[in-house]
Amino acid sequence: MVDDATDPLATRRRVLITGAGGQLGRALAQAFADDDVLALRRDGWDVREPPPELAWSPSLVLHAAAWTDVDGAEEKEREAERVNVDGTARVASLRAPLVAYSSDYVFDGRKGSPYLESDDPAPLSAYGRTKLGGEVAAGGDAWIVRSSWLFGETGHNFVRTMLRLGAERDEVAVVDDQRGCPTYVGHLAAATRELVERGAARGVWHLAASGECTWADFAEAIFAESALACRVRRITTAEFGATAPRPAYSVLRSEKGAPELPHWREGLRACLEALGHPT
Ligand SMILES: NC(=O)c1ccc[n+]([C@@H]2O[C@H](COP(=O)([O-])OP(=O)(O)OC[C@H]3O[C@@H](n4cnc5c(N)ncnc54)[C@H](OP(=O)(O)O)[C@@H]3O)[C@@H](O)[C@H]2O)c1
Repeated sequence: MVDDATDPLATRRRVLITGAGGQLGRALAQAFADDDVLALRRDGWDVREPPPELAWSPSLVLHAAAWTDVDGAEEKEREAERVNVDGTARVASLRAPLVAYSSDYVFDGRKGSPYLESDDPAPLSAYGRTKLGGEVAAGGDAWIVRSSWLFGETGHNFVRTMLRLGAERDEVAVVDDQRGCPTYVGHLAAATRELVERGAARGVWHLAASGECTWADFAEAIFAESALACRVRRITTAEFGATAPRPAYSVLRSEKGAPELPHWREGLRACLEALGHPT
């Protein structure tokens, strides 16, 4: 018989992660590895369906599953909504302390100075609308963590795309009239942990990398840091011609004293190092 007061297992958090196959989900599983973690990929819990039978009730849920195809959501908004809104409501119905991830794309980008937690959202895209719907579905008792321009060692992201294109081509055309904060998932996962462990009030929190840049600046930094001799041709959003509208300026900052994340360039270096690229 073990006394709960002295048994470290009795006080360990039981952390359920959704979307564990995604880039953030994977980083969260690493950042919370000291806890009892149940990391569910889509085949473990498709959040369009009721939750699976769980061996324990979680003491913390990190909800990283999402429809993240921004352009695809324009054509299939209802399908994106089924994941990002209805799925989030289903996760919230577990009634455990919940971190739900949201996006800078809930803003229209017209403010021209950093977006704070108290700024009014006004999404331009179907994806942004579903993420805002997800914030409502998460409920007032969740930590709603908005972040931006995520990248990591796995999955579909800008860093991995640029590393591939930079090795194949002499030049790539990259959008230079959208500004944001490229955020390394390892840094976001660590900041999530800090937010929860400090017992921060529930509600909206902006957790994004320090610094800001355009996609073209970011591409140049990727090539410089990984010693790829590829030029960046700076183009406009209109020239690029993506299906979904995106905010021209979506830098996120916190007015609530959120945990501070390292600069995006530090995140880039950490990611490249983990990928085995020279920095
Ligand atoms: N990526 C960004 O730039 C960015 C920026 C700001 C905020 N966010 C938010 O941050 C969170 C994590 O994003 P991420 O970049 O890690 O995305 P990601 O790499 O695309 O991961 C999302 C994961 O969700 C899974 N998923 C999709 N539909 C699902 C469903 N019906 N049930 C269960 N799982 C499902 C995906 O599985 P499959 O691989 O099988 O499709 C994928 O593994 C999301 O809330 C996203 O909206 C992302």
